[in-house]
Amino acid sequence: MSTQPQRVRRTTVPQIARRKGGDPIVSLTSYHAHTAAIVDKYADFILVGDSLGMVMHGMESTVGVPLDLMIMHGKAVVRGTKKALIVVDMPFGTYEESPNMAFRNAAKIMKETGCGAVKLEGGKRMAETIKFLVERGIPVMAHIGLTPQSSHVMGGFKTQGRDEDSWPLHEEDARAVTEAGAFAIVLEGMVEPLAAKITRQIDIPTIGIGASAQCDGQILVLEDMLGLNPWTPKFVKEYGSLGAMIEQAVSDYAEEVKTRAFPGEDHVYR
Ligand code: KIV
Repeated sequence: MSTQPQRVRRTTVPQIARRKGGDPIVSLTSYHAHTAAIVDKYADFILVGDSLGMVMHGMESTVGVPLDLMIMHGKAVVRGTKKALIVVDMPFGTYEESPNMAFRNAAKIMKETGCGAVKLEGGKRMAETIKFLVERGIPVMAHIGLTPQSSHVMGGFKTQGRDEDSWPLHEEDARAVTEAGAFAIVLEGMVEPLAAKITRQIDIPTIGIGASAQCDGQILVLEDMLGLNPWTPKFVKEYGSLGAMIEQAVSDYAEEVKTRAFPGEDHVYR
């Protein structure tokens, strides 16, 4: 009889890569153990996105997110999950300078969190780094189109590909990261026909956010689709209205504290 504890096998990077053209890949972001445990039941992979800087920590963009914060939230999500592949974002300033720097920081993320892959932003310009990481054992998810870490250069969070003349550059980005060895690629904030075209052209799965239903999978920021974000971008469908529910619950609680209706008989020790 085996003395090994029973292990649930997590979804692997090759399993995600093989989903190209198959059943759509389901994914969401998550930043904490308890929400990740719920998402884990339904998602093929969970992204610990650097959007956590804006969603959880009230930052104006993702540019200020430090590596240690990603590692802290990455650890929580790995602890809270058993099944999904966990991908952790590399934050701005931790990978762009050189492949060596990217390797050092990606290895730190993987060793300290126990995640299965990292994601980084950028197309052709990051291809050399992606190749360097993959050859050294670090699976990389690429991210092109609207890349929030470059929002200062882009002049804001701008939908990409509105001008058809720019399509070849995005297509070139997609090809370059694919050839470099990325196992999947996030297409964010680009016009639908361009995302659909890129999905047809490359042989790794595309994961759309504000992109196209033709992508091989979809991702949303969990708090956005739960209705916790005070502002809802066009590409988000709200599957819940947690913001309103939380507000109602907090105001009911405040009222009951003030009127001494809480704690009631059931909530005290006799
Ligand atoms: O940081 C993030 O949440 C992301 C997704 C929007 C893809 O990169």
